[in-house]
Amino acid sequence: MRNGKIPHSKASRCPNKAKQRENIFVDIKQYFLCTLVQIDHFSFSSSAMTPSISVMHCKLLHGSSQAMLSLYRQIERVAMTNAAVLIESESGTGKELIAQSIHLSGQRADKQFVAVNCGAAPSHLIEAELFGHEKGSFTGAKRRQTGYFEYASGGTLFLDEISEMPPDMQVKLLRVLECGSFYRVGGSESVKVDVRLIGATNRPLKDAVQAGSLRQDLMYRLAVFPIYVPPLRERGNDTALLAKHFLEELNREAGTIKRFSKQTLGQLQRHRWPGNVRELKNFVHRAYILSADILTLEIPPPVGQQVSSRVDGTLDFTIGTALADAQKEIILATLHHHRGNKRMTAETLGISLKTLYNRLKAY
Ligand SMILES: Nc1ncnc2c1ncn2[C@@H]1O[C@H](COP(=O)(O)OP(=O)(O)OP(=O)(O)O)[C@@H](O)[C@H]1O
Ligand SMILES: [Mg+2]
Repeated sequence: MRNGKIPHSKASRCPNKAKQRENIFVDIKQYFLCTLVQIDHFSFSSSAMTPSISVMHCKLLHGSSQAMLSLYRQIERVAMTNAAVLIESESGTGKELIAQSIHLSGQRADKQFVAVNCGAAPSHLIEAELFGHEKGSFTGAKRRQTGYFEYASGGTLFLDEISEMPPDMQVKLLRVLECGSFYRVGGSESVKVDVRLIGATNRPLKDAVQAGSLRQDLMYRLAVFPIYVPPLRERGNDTALLAKHFLEELNREAGTIKRFSKQTLGQLQRHRWPGNVRELKNFVHRAYILSADILTLEIPPPVGQQVSSRVDGTLDFTIGTALADAQKEIILATLHHHRGNKRMTAETLGISLKTLYNRLKAY
């Protein structure tokens, strides 16, 4: 945790909350602008047109495709409730931003937003990380430690990569969800907290349940309000809109006025972006660094056509393939082979989960 209260944690607090709140009026204007753009072919319910604190998500999430407009409406609706939410979508599509938007748009906005990556926390530590522990409960437990549940009290706990949580932990989590209280590790006092839960997975829920990596009962308990976000390639003109948005951000930060060539923008829009918005954002950043006034960097060919072909579980590389490209192909192919299971992918490749996460973030 960034405030240093909980060591070994992969949790983070909602960034720039105060700044986002200050910008609410800018957001409202922006919201109406993006609404007006779409009004010809998409009708809003009257409640969705009412400016309220809930429109803050416009500041975090960008996009005016029908899929995004429908997402904004869902966020507005569910933010006003305490219902558990389960977000399902491919990697890099904005699940964490959606969770933050729900938090910031509801009445819990002034409380903590705590994000925990269930896949990255070591199995033997995750219980203590989630529920805290008492002094002396295990070797090295020198004092009582608050867990994420208590830390998020009154706010929102975002459990990312929920299907990567070890099965025994899923049982414990379910029990907490059912009775609303838990015991710290080594503790005998029941702790009750008021926490809104949002889960997320980048594996299709059906697959995760079928493969046994997500308990069906836990899935139903979390999916009171399921949200599905389509991949970027299915969101119409959002690719170009987001690319321009990321470039504008970079220009603003550095006081530059770089822009896309028409050709690059067209290419960007046609590319399939398997790594979704994250890949697009990283691409724009790279192009920004490498270009002078006009961004013209070549778009990478679709993954799988770059340096290798996959035949019966094998990869072919041309002599002279850049190591970084070969490494990327191997990692993505192994992840695909394990149907998105990062723990197994890291084990197969002989790298730590942390390294795998870092690599995937960069792609
Ligand atoms: N609609 C959007 N508007 C603006 N930025 C976005 C949007 N969607 C995603 N991003 C940006 O793309 C990056 C990835 O987003 P995020 O981490 O929320 O994705 P994710 O779905 O949680 O990915 P993963 O499954 O790999 O954890 C972030 O830098 C985020 O700011
Ligand atoms: Mg995420």
